Amino acid sequence: AGSSDDCREILSHRLPSRIQSLLEIAGVVAEDLGFMVYMVGGIVRDLLLGVPNYDIDLVVEGEGLVFARALAQRLGGRARVHERFQTAVVVLPDGFKIDVATARTEYYEFPAALPVVHRSSIREDLYRRDFTINTMAICLNPGRFGELIDYFGGRKDLKEGLIRILYNLSFVEDPTRILRAIRFEQRYKFQIEAETLRLARDAIDRRLLGKLSHKRILHELILILEEKDPLPALRRMDEIGVWEYVMPEVRLDSETWIMLRRVPRVLGWLAERWLNIGLRSWVVYLLVILQKLPDSAVEEIVHRYRFDRDVTEILLMGREVPGLAVEIEEIQSLSMSDLNKKLRKLSGEHIAFLLLCLNRPESWERVARYLELKQDVRVKVNGYDLKALGLREGPVYQKILSDLYDANLDGLVKTYDEEIELVKKWISEGRVKDDG
Ligand code: CTP
Repeated sequence: AGSSDDCREILSHRLPSRIQSLLEIAGVVAEDLGFMVYMVGGIVRDLLLGVPNYDIDLVVEGEGLVFARALAQRLGGRARVHERFQTAVVVLPDGFKIDVATARTEYYEFPAALPVVHRSSIREDLYRRDFTINTMAICLNPGRFGELIDYFGGRKDLKEGLIRILYNLSFVEDPTRILRAIRFEQRYKFQIEAETLRLARDAIDRRLLGKLSHKRILHELILILEEKDPLPALRRMDEIGVWEYVMPEVRLDSETWIMLRRVPRVLGWLAERWLNIGLRSWVVYLLVILQKLPDSAVEEIVHRYRFDRDVTEILLMGREVPGLAVEIEEIQSLSMSDLNKKLRKLSGEHIAFLLLCLNRPESWERVARYLELKQDVRVKVNGYDLKALGLREGPVYQKILSDLYDANLDGLVKTYDEEIELVKKWISEGRVKDDG
């Protein structure tokens, strides 16, 4: 049996009291049904490390779906059930989610296949997992609440900072674990344990990553690029020969590294000043990574990985950003409205990439000023006002409002009255025709 230990203290110190009481309730609900319930995986690992993590994964010895429905009812939420996988998500009224699964074993019919699933005990459920540090569980039933289950030496490896697989075929069964090993190793500044590293290299030599679908590789790549600092993991991927299965066309050269290293600063800067953009950091990293490739190679990669439409467009349009950066640096006389013409179609990810491409501090300042202006500037005049000035409705309205926007950007007008005066001037100059 595994060593048992008491985590009640840790639970009460490191989890918000609301989550603690959810866990206690989960234990009572399971007990009433005659099941055992455990909190497992990443959250247990992070609790012991003192890293905040509120992604609750529960495993039930018994019927996970019956438990999930009972828990949802008890908490006034609902259970979204996936019969096929015997898993459920309990969604609370405020949107908080709890993942529930039935304890299971998985058999892999051939290397890199998706597993065949059977019901089992918690021990078997934990044994099928990737690394020892992810195999710990905490029992939630009332009599044993807070008891740490650690069959495979997870706590020791956590203390020693080691990423260790549980059985020799682990990477053969699931080669994505090679990428996961790198991600955890670099995230926690751990080390892949020597024998595990040997088996990983062996799996790489046997080209097992080549058996994975592009979809699964992309999923792991995105997880890596979403890490707080993905660079060490990219470096490690390159070093142990994984990168060539991800994007063989891309050489991670020193110029690319220099730009990659600046990404966190640019993202932090944008988040601070320009809050209202939903910016996906992984897309920014990809823009940088793909930047030196010829168009045809980028198209090939976009096609291979089947990014969604939005990301595809961003990656393809991103090709024009370095050129824009050159223009901005060369033409110092660009007005804010000129800048707007060049930049208005860019996504937040493009803006980040653009900033990365700018070398001169003045250019950076100018784009920053544009972004700030853009946040504040509103056209005060509307269609009714234009009508009141005697203008007939039509495409000209769009044009006037857009010109007014530019005039605001360039500081030519500020107030409603100034906008009205400007439109009148345009009419009198014959730039726009009034009704007639
Ligand atoms: N797992 C696995 N093999 C995989 C993916 C996941 O064994 N290829 C197991 C791991 O043990 C992990 C659990 O499934 O603890 C949940 O996976 P996931 O949510 O991806 O991992 P977390 O440990 O929660 O990682 P993160 O902190 O990145 O969310």
